[in-house]
Amino acid sequence: MSFPASRPRRLRRTPALRALVRETVLTPKDFVFPMFIVPGRGVSLPIGSMPGQKRYSPDLAAEEARRLWDLGVSAVLLFGIPEHKDAVGSSAYHKDGIVPQAVRAIAKAAPQMVIMTDVCLCEYTDHGHCGLVEKGEVLNDPTLELLAKQAIAHAQAGAHVVAPSDMMDGRVGFIREELDDEGLENTSIMAYSVKYASAFYGPFREAAESAPAFGDRQSYQMDPANQSEAIKEARMDEEEGADILMVKPAGPYLDIVRAVREATDLPLAAYQVSGEYAMIHAAAERGWIDLERAMMESLIGIKRAGADIIISYFAPHAAGLLK
Ligand code: PBG
Repeated sequence: MSFPASRPRRLRRTPALRALVRETVLTPKDFVFPMFIVPGRGVSLPIGSMPGQKRYSPDLAAEEARRLWDLGVSAVLLFGIPEHKDAVGSSAYHKDGIVPQAVRAIAKAAPQMVIMTDVCLCEYTDHGHCGLVEKGEVLNDPTLELLAKQAIAHAQAGAHVVAPSDMMDGRVGFIREELDDEGLENTSIMAYSVKYASAFYGPFREAAESAPAFGDRQSYQMDPANQSEAIKEARMDEEEGADILMVKPAGPYLDIVRAVREATDLPLAAYQVSGEYAMIHAAAERGWIDLERAMMESLIGIKRAGADIIISYFAPHAAGLLK
C-alpha cells in the first residue's frame, strides 16, 4: 500500500501513539558503567577529557556503585590504575591489587551489583602495551599466562565477569582453562572479541595513563576496515568458551554490532568508548548539539543495532532520565 492510503505520520501524532509503536526501548538495566580505580582513600580525580567522569579510590568507588544501584544501573566494569608500573605489569596480578580491593569494596556496598573487571596489561606496564614486549614486538603466548593470573586474582576477589581486552590470540580459551583449574568455573568471560585499533580511545588513555610509549596497537587490535574478520573473531571466542561477546567502539561500528548479532546466539555487548562520550560532550559544550538528546539517540542506536548490553560512561546520566 502506498500514499495516500498509507500515511506513516498517522502513528506519529501524539507521544502516546509513538510510545505504542516504539520498537526499541532503553532501560537502566541495559547499561554497564566503566569505572577507573586509583590507589588510596577518599580520592576522586576528575578526568579532563571526559567531563563528569572521575577516577575513584576503592572506598569512593563503592559509594558510587551504591548510587548507581539506586539509579537502576546493575553492572560496573572496573579498570585499575596502579601506583607502580613495570615492564611485566606485576601490579596486575596481586591478589590485593587495586582492582581486587575495589571488587571487595563494591561487593560490600552494593551486594547485588554485577562486577566486571577489565583484564589487560596496558594500564600496568611502563611501556603501555597490552602484553609483554620483546625487541619492540608484543608477544602473544607468554602474555596469556599473565592475563590468566590477573583474571584469577579478580575472580578470587569476587568479580562475576572478567573481560579480556588485550586482543592476544587464544586468550579466552586459556583464561577459561586456568579459571576452571582454580575452581572458578562460575566466573563468566565477556570477551572484547571485536576490538578495533581506534582513535576513539584517546580520552581513556589519558584517564588510565595507558598510551603506548612507542608504536601503536595495530599489530593486535583490528583494522577498522574489516567486517568478515569480526565474525571470525566472534566465532573463535565463542568456541573458546566466552559467555558474552563485545564489539568496541560502538557508534562507528553499528554494522559490526548487527553482523555479530546475526552470527551468534551469545549475549552481545557494545562499548561506547571514551572518545564517543567526549565528542558528544564537546559539541554540547559549544552549544552545537543538545547533550541529553544526543546521548539518548546514541544509546538507542546501539541497542537498535542489536546490542543486549551497552557499556557507557553515560550510564548514570541516562539511567537518571529513564527512571
Ligand atoms: C585496554 C582498553 C582500552 C579501552 C578499554 N580497554 C584502551 C586501549 O585499547 O587502548 C578503551 C575504552 C575507552 O576508550 O573508553 N585495556
